[in-house]
Amino acid sequence: MVMFKASRKETSPFDGQKPGTSGLRKKVTVFQQPNYLENFVQSTFNALSADKVKGATLVVSGDGRYFSKDAIQVIIKMAAANGVRRVWVGQNGLMSTPAVSAVIRERVGADGSKSTGAFILTASHNPGGPHEDFGIKYNMENGGPAPEAITDKIYANTTSINEYFIAADLPDVDISVVGITTFEGHEGPFDVDVFDSTGDYVTLMKSIFDFTSIQKLFGSPNFTFCFDALHGVGGIYAKRIFVEELGAHEGSLINCTPKEDFGGGHPDPNLTYAKELVSRMGLGKESSQGEPPEFGAAADGDADRNMVLGKRFFVTPSDSVAIIAANAVQSIPYFSSGLKGVARSMPTSAALDVVAKHLNLKFFEVPTGWKFFGNLMDAGLCSICGEESFGTGGYCFLITGSDHIREKDGIWAVLAWLSILAFKNKDNLNGGAKLVTVEDIVRQHWTTYGRHYYTRYDYENVDAGAAKELMSYLVKLQSSLPDVNKIINGIRSDVSNVVEADEFEYKDPVDGSISKHQGVRYLFEDGSRLVFRLSGTGSVGATIRLYIEQYEKDPSKTGRDSQDALAPLVEVALKLSKMQEFTGRSAPTVIT
Ligand SMILES: *[C@@H]1O[C@H](CO)[C@@H](O)[C@H](O)[C@H]1NC(C)=O
Ligand SMILES: *[C@@H]1O[C@H](CO)[C@@H](O)[C@H](O)[C@H]1NC(C)=O
Ligand SMILES: *[C@@H]1O[C@H](CO)[C@@H](O)[C@H](O)[C@H]1NC(C)=O
Repeated sequence: MVMFKASRKETSPFDGQKPGTSGLRKKVTVFQQPNYLENFVQSTFNALSADKVKGATLVVSGDGRYFSKDAIQVIIKMAAANGVRRVWVGQNGLMSTPAVSAVIRERVGADGSKSTGAFILTASHNPGGPHEDFGIKYNMENGGPAPEAITDKIYANTTSINEYFIAADLPDVDISVVGITTFEGHEGPFDVDVFDSTGDYVTLMKSIFDFTSIQKLFGSPNFTFCFDALHGVGGIYAKRIFVEELGAHEGSLINCTPKEDFGGGHPDPNLTYAKELVSRMGLGKESSQGEPPEFGAAADGDADRNMVLGKRFFVTPSDSVAIIAANAVQSIPYFSSGLKGVARSMPTSAALDVVAKHLNLKFFEVPTGWKFFGNLMDAGLCSICGEESFGTGGYCFLITGSDHIREKDGIWAVLAWLSILAFKNKDNLNGGAKLVTVEDIVRQHWTTYGRHYYTRYDYENVDAGAAKELMSYLVKLQSSLPDVNKIINGIRSDVSNVVEADEFEYKDPVDGSISKHQGVRYLFEDGSRLVFRLSGTGSVGATIRLYIEQYEKDPSKTGRDSQDALAPLVEVALKLSKMQEFTGRSAPTVIT
């Protein structure tokens, strides 16, 4: 057996190792500086309680981006030197973020061991490669990201770190081969267990969804499918689940071989970056030849986010989560005994609220950030959640999740949609009848629940002072509804009155924490909303995000052109907020 020795190395702090909610993300070149990764990993070990390090079992894997393989070897050697008992590594170091969450919660090692945490190596939808981004985040025993109390402690430690421990003489482990390698240290044995990256996740998915009914859907001559992994890690799960388990054609997968640089693209599943999928689905300018597939989806680099499309049809993120919630109990065995509750982030459209009301479900509107969903799930209050994502650009993909794990899950969302399609089509899969399509399902949903026409205006790089003034103005204005309504009635007579307005604040029912200043909301009598938020008040300027949402209950009016339906409320939003007066902008930078 190979022996190893822990050695102590001197180091000094690096600035800026503050992990956000999604971990520490920097350019690869930053991570490649001597001791940079080591400092962060040691600070994480220092911040955890001793029992989560000494004798513990840790998972290390990621989306396969450039620098992951080097980082995995470093983390293995540091884990050995810090007294960790075992490290579990997905084959080739690949594992999606939701799959890591599943492994923390579900996997039992050959010797009965369970893991208590994971280093996930990903920068999500950011590009990869020698000059692009790398990232590392730590997830806890419940499978969810480290809470702020821990990330604050990690950061505090990085600011004064002066030593780290590493088993520098431990040989590199071949992570391309499944199997357990045992080494011998002063404190006893240390195992590196390289295992099948997909197995545990597939088992979990099979326990949630009815694979047999989805197989029948794929077996129908009239159902066609396309999945684009954008060269992220989702590709290995797509091959295993959609092709091997469910019977999709190999040709229905595109960009499903993980690449360190994501093929040079952005692993960002939106209408701009998922070009190939968008064209195959008959959307966009350069549609490919032939009949588009019935259903299409894409996932981001680490497969926690996704986009859902029908034939020549885009499903908005807010509609997607509402439709999954509305159909979950009938279509998905995991939810057959009912939903514990549903939740959405504040700026996500209220389509989910209407479903919750119809089905008499517990409902939560939470600030942006995964932890709010995680808390509700840990407390058994929420089964399905969703949020429209905020990137720097006009992201419009869905972040959904369910309480099967404590991360967002892109493949789960695709399986949820396939389950709904399978359920709605269970009696017409023999080729004779016409299939109920994604578009049919969405239109039917609007007929039943009404439609939330929804758009987001981003004003990027606005002068920070001006942005603050605009927000203070809106905060002050909302305190008098008569004033608000007088202004609105003066702008348009065809827009309903505001019946409630506030600066959104959330008291977490689980940990009691209070989040203030989450944005200004104007709620209209007819169910429409305006939301104003300020973000990224950095040195370069601020971004104002304006969410405009027109609710239409009348089934004869749910098929309108979205821009037409929103026009009156857009006019009200811009004039009410004095957008141009405050910011000097006559138009937003991005409209989503
Ligand atoms: C960082 O961790 C080390 C080792 O546990 C500890 O001695 C030190 O006090 C910690 N520093 C801070 C600022 O938390
Ligand atoms: C896709 O995301 C990028 C940012 O990563 C953004 O610039 C672009 O506008 C987005 N496209 C759409 C259609 O949302
Ligand atoms: C289903 O597919 C078969 C075989 O391609 C085709 O002959 C049939 O017309 C299709 N049925 C419908 C309803 O589109």
